[in-house]
Amino acid sequence: MPDLWQEAMDHAVVLARKSGEIVREALQNEMKVMCKSSSVDLVTKTDQKVEQLIIASVKDKFPTHSFIGEESVAAGQPCILSDNPTWIVDPVDGTTNFVHGYPFIAISIGFAADKQLEFGVVYSCLEDKMYTARKGKGAFCNGQPLQVSDQTDINQSIIATEFGSNRDPEVVDKIFSSMRKVLCLPIHGMRGAGTAATNMCLVAAGSAEAYYEIGIHCWDIAAGAVIVSEAGGVLMDVGGGPLDMMSRRVVAANNKTIAQRLIKEIEAYPATRDDAP
Ligand code: IPD
Repeated sequence: MPDLWQEAMDHAVVLARKSGEIVREALQNEMKVMCKSSSVDLVTKTDQKVEQLIIASVKDKFPTHSFIGEESVAAGQPCILSDNPTWIVDPVDGTTNFVHGYPFIAISIGFAADKQLEFGVVYSCLEDKMYTARKGKGAFCNGQPLQVSDQTDINQSIIATEFGSNRDPEVVDKIFSSMRKVLCLPIHGMRGAGTAATNMCLVAAGSAEAYYEIGIHCWDIAAGAVIVSEAGGVLMDVGGGPLDMMSRRVVAANNKTIAQRLIKEIEAYPATRDDAP
């Protein structure tokens, strides 16, 4: 049976590579940094340029498809996942890294149809690592199959997380409280690449056992979620239920044992949903 979405996935890989070239070039030049929701929520001309390039190309090739993109939503476009085939894009995941030259930056392209994630492409463009996964067909990095770690003991694990961009002291306290509890289990180590998509790919690759965060967005999660699950991992909500991509909360883990043990230590709090009216 022909794969309905393979052509779209192949196109996503081409777009991710082209976007990565733009990001690498932009790093050589002086950049103009702007703020979005707060002084630490950053955006650059490159985020906007890459997103526009991806939208224009998708519209041209797949005119009936829908689009949810970080910068389009910031500019007032709706963030609603319908049954229509939908591209869910973070043009520069790790914008703060990009601004500072911290060397982990990813282009994240997820795709859903009938609200089900079908494929994910994450290009870690400074490492030149192209992560790809098509539902039911496995996950790959530069063509090599990915497999999550088989560790079931959280005490032997690396857990990734991020501080995010919320600087409300109450939220920061909760973030630290969860981190403290997780770290003191104890675990082997805690890491954060500064890009959610890359963190998820590191779980898929078996380099970290789990990644969790509250406050991220559907465009940070979509592509990485397919890559983690196709590498044999699990996706959950930080409260223990199933992942809800619009809830801005995620646990991506190598297996359910690690995910559930981790969830016991996380102080779960609600975040304003991505699809809130
Ligand atoms: C951010 C990164 C960061 C995570 C934030 C995200 P952006 O995405 O993924 O690691 O902590 O929650 O918003 O803004 O660089 O695309």
